[in-house]
Amino acid sequence: MNQRYRQARYHMHDIFEEHCVEREITDNPMPDKIARKEPPRVPDMPEYEVIRHFTRLSQMNYGVDSGFYPLGSCTMKYNPKYSELLCREAKAVDLHPYQPEETVQGTLGILYELQHMLAEIGGMDSVTLQPAAGAHGEITGLMIVHEYHRKNGDERNEIILPDTAHGTNPASAAMLGYKTIEIPSEEGCVDLKALEEAVSDNTAAFMLTNPNTLGLFEEEALEVADIIHDAGGLLYYDGANLNAIMGKTSPGKMNYDIMHFNLHKTFATPHGGGGPGAGPVGVTEELRSYLPVPIVEKKEERYYLEYGLENTIGRIKGFYGNWLVLLRAYSYILKEGGDGLTGISERAVLNSNYLRKHLEDAIELPYGKLRKHEFVLSGSGLKNKGIRTLDIAKRLLDYGYHAPTIYFPLIVEEALMIEPTETERKETLDGFAGALHTILEEEPETVRSAPHNTAVKRVDDTKAAREPILSYKMRVDKK
Ligand SMILES: Cc1ncc(COP(=O)(O)O)c(C=O)c1O
Repeated sequence: MNQRYRQARYHMHDIFEEHCVEREITDNPMPDKIARKEPPRVPDMPEYEVIRHFTRLSQMNYGVDSGFYPLGSCTMKYNPKYSELLCREAKAVDLHPYQPEETVQGTLGILYELQHMLAEIGGMDSVTLQPAAGAHGEITGLMIVHEYHRKNGDERNEIILPDTAHGTNPASAAMLGYKTIEIPSEEGCVDLKALEEAVSDNTAAFMLTNPNTLGLFEEEALEVADIIHDAGGLLYYDGANLNAIMGKTSPGKMNYDIMHFNLHKTFATPHGGGGPGAGPVGVTEELRSYLPVPIVEKKEERYYLEYGLENTIGRIKGFYGNWLVLLRAYSYILKEGGDGLTGISERAVLNSNYLRKHLEDAIELPYGKLRKHEFVLSGSGLKNKGIRTLDIAKRLLDYGYHAPTIYFPLIVEEALMIEPTETERKETLDGFAGALHTILEEEPETVRSAPHNTAVKRVDDTKAAREPILSYKMRVDKK
């Protein structure tokens, strides 16, 4: 039985407008050139009003701590609170990035060990922790590709990708000036024949997202590697979907040269919302000297920052990378251990296939095979009822479930991309499947006009994306 959901709905006052006061500038220590000339307008209210304001706002929102959040490709799993607590410890937050190495031996030790743990998980030889996101990892990896070929006097300008690659892959390649060559898939996986036709002396690298955006495991990843290596190219593995394969296999075992991890998907940091992330990059021994500097090294019992890598692409992020995201991942890996991580992959894949089985009779499942951690349904058959994937997503909110990812990947029409993650119980998956079945039986108009039970009704998504109002000042200016 589906429990209907009602989100809190408050009439919110704009605290910034209503409680602002002009603060007089009394003793301004700033140089005249940059000193504020006008008195600043700042909110002035008692603490309890501030707390109430933000608590109410949070009640009108939906997050991983509110309920099921099957946002495909984003791995919105529940993140354990012990890692959050750890990140609030004074020892973790009261560090200064310019502290001398001798005073941060513990921190450097954690980073050093994390480099090694990730290298082992990915089957790589060395790891940099600097990149701040998955896409940043891709850019870093492709800079290494570029530098590697340049060093060998081999100016290659093409990156090949399958049409199931994550969108950031071609975007990263294009940002570095590469020509991207997209090859079509065969039954949802890389078409080796199309790949053979696409490779040439210009091939700098091939980028594979595996499991791919359909949730399918690329079983011919080794053959792909052989084709690219034979042509003198390098292999880049988008390891953002590692939560499906950890402990089972690794990019290294598939002969890939470079990979990135999305710590904020796989290891205990929430993904999304624009918060900090970390996209460490792993490489084979041959490419170690190209890594960004510094990396953390150990000599006898002392940890230090190593800047002397011969072919380094330079620095790509300030200081140590996003330290608190790295600390969360470190604690999570230690707590889970090797068997724990393998179990996470097993449960992520089990949950995904359990839910897939409960839904594939209701909504079309293109490329109907066993999936890894996620699967993609197609709502194209619902058009004859007058409803679209967008309507289903909005209606799910009325039942208390965050909408899955929609209209991605592009190769599936009216895509509905569902990633339950390993943290959910069978009852939750049953509830979600039940809600979806109920929605399909409802009057189309009820679905088309959803959501009905949320604080905010249907928004104009395009306008929201094109004209975001990101601060109260923008709203005031608009008036
Ligand atoms: C498969 C895959 N690759 C790359 C990325 C990009 O990661 P980020 O959003 O951290 O830049 C994501 C993000 O969800 C992803 O799912």
